[in-house]
Amino acid sequence: MNFSSIFKKEGPKTIPISMGEETSESTITPLHPENKLIKIFIIEDDAIFGKAVKFSLEKNLNYDVTIFTTGKSFLDHLHLNPDIVSIDYNLPDMKGLEILEKVSSYNSEISCIILSGQEDVEVVVQTYKSGAKDYIIKKDNCIVELTNSIQNLSANVSLRKEVEELKNRIIDRSRYDQMIGESAAILNVIRMMQKVEKSNMMVMVTGESGTGKEMIGKLIHYNSPRMREPYVAVNMAAIADDLIESELFGHEKGAFTGADNRRLGKFEEANRGTIFLDEIGEMDLSMQSKLLRVLQEGAITRVGGNKEIKLDVRVVAATNKNLPQMVKDGKFREDLYYRLSGFPIQLPPLRDRGNDIIILTKYFLKNFCEANQMPAKSFTREALEAFMKHNWPGNVRELKATVERAAIIADKNLILVDDIVFASSAVAA
Ligand SMILES: Nc1ncnc2c1ncn2[C@@H]1O[C@H](COP(=O)(O)OP(=O)(O)OP(=O)(O)O)[C@@H](O)[C@H]1O
Ligand SMILES: [Mg+2]
Repeated sequence: MNFSSIFKKEGPKTIPISMGEETSESTITPLHPENKLIKIFIIEDDAIFGKAVKFSLEKNLNYDVTIFTTGKSFLDHLHLNPDIVSIDYNLPDMKGLEILEKVSSYNSEISCIILSGQEDVEVVVQTYKSGAKDYIIKKDNCIVELTNSIQNLSANVSLRKEVEELKNRIIDRSRYDQMIGESAAILNVIRMMQKVEKSNMMVMVTGESGTGKEMIGKLIHYNSPRMREPYVAVNMAAIADDLIESELFGHEKGAFTGADNRRLGKFEEANRGTIFLDEIGEMDLSMQSKLLRVLQEGAITRVGGNKEIKLDVRVVAATNKNLPQMVKDGKFREDLYYRLSGFPIQLPPLRDRGNDIIILTKYFLKNFCEANQMPAKSFTREALEAFMKHNWPGNVRELKATVERAAIIADKNLILVDDIVFASSAVAA
């Protein structure tokens, strides 16, 4: 049978020669919300028929369709793991059955459909035995049949993908169970941590005070391959400018007045592990150039020493300052900024996390009551509403302190609005 004739018969209205814009919107299936495309490979040596199939399938925007005209070119691309494969039974270079067997032994989760001109019962039985999910006879309406068959199979594929993703999410979420929250913003932060934790990339955590930046530093380290090596946190804001260099890189005996002994710096302490450089925006310009050099060379020189010491330290930096603005104002080196911001993670303020406020409130209250051997307490609905309305300039840290204060103030096990004292209101007043 000549499939070009089928193509012509269906006419230019449904299968125009120029593929694309003519498709009416009503026939287009809406794009899957999470854009999980179903990868479909069609092995078909009749180019016109192949195009017609592709056009018909691509009305469904969830399908990603590729045509192969030979068995060999298809097998060369099998590692791309298609979800569904339609195999022409009679290809010039290979038999469809041979391809089917190769696909089944490579990955039995790939669904195969055989398209054949033969109605021979034995052939049909043989293909099903070899793992085919469907057998379609090439006749006039076979494109419709093939499209329907693919649609049925793709429902299973989508389900399987969803189950797999759900399983992954459950496993991955548990490694971050200290990080409470279910808002899209927090789940996105967790996703970003998962992406970067295995690598050695520098991470820059930004966010307002109390949003959990230090928590991110620890979670990245303890979920990384460096988890058994040291995690060293240094707060730049807590060290006088003239001491930062020796604090970070150490010093030799006699390097300066009072340097009675050799002392290792935080970078050396963190060797093979992770250093968390907190409040990085507080570092002065001369220290910024020294840090840049260390990051570029992967080596430090102790103050008063002349030997370069090679180190393997993963850097996570954090700030609540607007570093791009500081760069514009000439207060932060641009080259250091780009070096440190290899992988930025932005923590949203608590007021933008919606219901996470309630989830965190209950979590902190439960923990506090248990830790202090108090009977279990709970907030009234009005109290929770007051928490939701509050602006939380001090973010999660402020929420935790407010919950704990209310738990102590409340006379009964039910905590009332009147038991809540917002410290930030006092600061603002
Ligand atoms: N998502 C969260 N779930 C549970 N606890 C959290 C969460 N985020 C922050 N916390 C807690 O809130 C407090 C403040 O967090 P952290 O010290 O990490 O904030 P920070 O951004 O580093 O603050 P600062 O800018 O003031 O240094 C800590 O007690 C931390 O454990
Ligand atoms: Mg901090």
